[in-house]
Amino acid sequence: MSEDINVPSTENFYNNTVLSLPLANWSGSPDLPMSAVNALETGKVIFLPNLSFSLSREELQLLDPAIVDPKRKNISYQPLKKRIAGVATKEHESAISALLERHHQACLQLIKAIFPEYQQTLHTPTNSLRLHPVAQWTNNTSWRKDDRRLHVDAFPSRPNYGERILRIFTNINPGTENRSWRVGETFPTLAQKFLPRLKSYSPFLSKLQNSVGITKSLRSHYDHLMLQLHDAMKADADYQKNGPQIAIEFPPGSSWACFSDGTPHAAMGGQFMLEQTFLLPVNAMQDPKHAPLKILESLMNKPLI
Ligand code: SIN
Ligand code: FE
Repeated sequence: MSEDINVPSTENFYNNTVLSLPLANWSGSPDLPMSAVNALETGKVIFLPNLSFSLSREELQLLDPAIVDPKRKNISYQPLKKRIAGVATKEHESAISALLERHHQACLQLIKAIFPEYQQTLHTPTNSLRLHPVAQWTNNTSWRKDDRRLHVDAFPSRPNYGERILRIFTNINPGTENRSWRVGETFPTLAQKFLPRLKSYSPFLSKLQNSVGITKSLRSHYDHLMLQLHDAMKADADYQKNGPQIAIEFPPGSSWACFSDGTPHAAMGGQFMLEQTFLLPVNAMQDPKHAPLKILESLMNKPLI
């Protein structure tokens, strides 16, 4: 039963990757064992196995991929503008908006309960209703857009200058189907591995991309590196297969959260999920040195924004 001490066991990898919290309602409970912010900032997935989001009988009727605009992957909602996008059938828009508004309010409660440190500083919320089965994500999309490959999130058209991408997910499958993920290594080791092969930054190219509307604002050196990293991970078949990673199952009625720009993840299966995104300024972190921006800056030994 001897085990090579240099190779972390699956159990060790799991414990270093996931923090489970028992809370069962979105406004938390007074006896929560701890704030989860440190675990989140060091790249862990915060798993809330008992945190479900209940749908009414009418809302359950909305769990139908035919409701999604065929040109879009998901339905998305901007709570501050009360703006919904991606619904194919006009008659469902108000019911879906109401569902996503209620989900957003629940996520705000959850932030107060488990990440109170961020309550004042999280901004630009967007949430989404994801109705398509992961198994049927079309194979005609390019490998770059294939989120079944291990990656860290980076937005090609919306540079974010190092701000963190906080995401909260809930499996709302009405049956028994898990959302299945793979989760990879921590950002410092990931960055060290890939940095030497990323293409160098061209401020000229960034200006050009911005002037023709490819980006909504100038792509910074940081944003360039994060996109390169996202692409390099997805393009590396050996890394996808043999890179450090663990499979995690999120059953119906469970929720989880992570900084998706710092925690490598891949969706492997499942259907019907709610997702909430917020952005967080690096300086609003408890410990900004864990931000991908700071890690990349220290590896490159220069400012990247
Ligand atoms: C992703 O964020 O890359 C996809 C997650 C999912 O759909 O489960
Ligand atoms: Fe992703």
